[in-house]
Amino acid sequence: MNTLQVENIRKTFRLSKKQRKIEQTDLKKKVAVDDVSFTANPGEIFGLLGPNGAGKTTALRCIATLIKPDQGDVYVGDYSVLKESSEVRKNIAFLTNELKLEDHFTPNYLYRYFSRLHGVDETVIEERKERLFKRFGIDRFAEVKVADLSTGMKQKISLAISLVHDPNFIVFDEPTNGLDVLTAKTVTDYLVEMREQGKTVILSTHILSVVEKLCDRVGIIIDGKLKAYDTLENVKKQSSDGELETLFFDFVKESLGEDHA
Ligand SMILES: Nc1ncnc2c1ncn2[C@@H]1O[C@H](COP(=O)(O)OP(=O)(O)O)[C@@H](O)[C@H]1O
Ligand SMILES: [Mg+2]
Repeated sequence: MNTLQVENIRKTFRLSKKQRKIEQTDLKKKVAVDDVSFTANPGEIFGLLGPNGAGKTTALRCIATLIKPDQGDVYVGDYSVLKESSEVRKNIAFLTNELKLEDHFTPNYLYRYFSRLHGVDETVIEERKERLFKRFGIDRFAEVKVADLSTGMKQKISLAISLVHDPNFIVFDEPTNGLDVLTAKTVTDYLVEMREQGKTVILSTHILSVVEKLCDRVGIIIDGKLKAYDTLENVKKQSSDGELETLFFDFVKESLGEDHA
């Protein structure tokens, strides 16, 4: 089954002196993700909604096996990120705008390179590349060096590269951040398409409208803790006026209050 289960994960970071200054704290450690659990199902877009610093990227990095949770585990289908991370990697896509593509290479080169890294058959590589490059309008730029391409095009190349192994689990960290409207639409349209194909899609965002538009179920994360978790419809019902925005800012205010207590 292609269900993704996050079970009580917790991740703590040591803070450097510089970070303590930035975060305005004397604490030596920061609990970035604090006992978070949720399930994402196939054919569904699950949204992790939270303000900056809430722990979204950390949680998604645990899911995508880039870092290990200190406690808890994540089951990506049948496989544990702690015990079977290489199996997990075969079936998961991770997209983040924090990643930078190498400037010297062309989309063709990068796509083939990552495909081979994933052990994709040579004939499959070319077929899939043609389909994805066409879908995202990369085909015309396939032999142009990354350095000479627009930000939007770079993000679409990252998107295509995240899909070289045709994974069933799609994990996108703030996928539309900093993108022009057209590129953002390409990305969100593709997320919807993947949901229709029965993939298990998880995205993180701080943008309420992204959740309202795309997500079937949602978790609201503040200060590393999951404050609400249900279908979008039911989460909205927890709000005093039925609006996601009101609930979200109530949680944010509550956490700011705690900080100043
Ligand atoms: N590698 C790290 N070392 C130290 N602190 C980190 C590290 N990664 C994230 N953090 C801290 O953990 C908290 C959550 O960060 P992050 O997961 O990036 O949040 P979000 O993606 O929701 O903005 C922040 O306070 C951040 O500064
Ligand atoms: Mg982040």
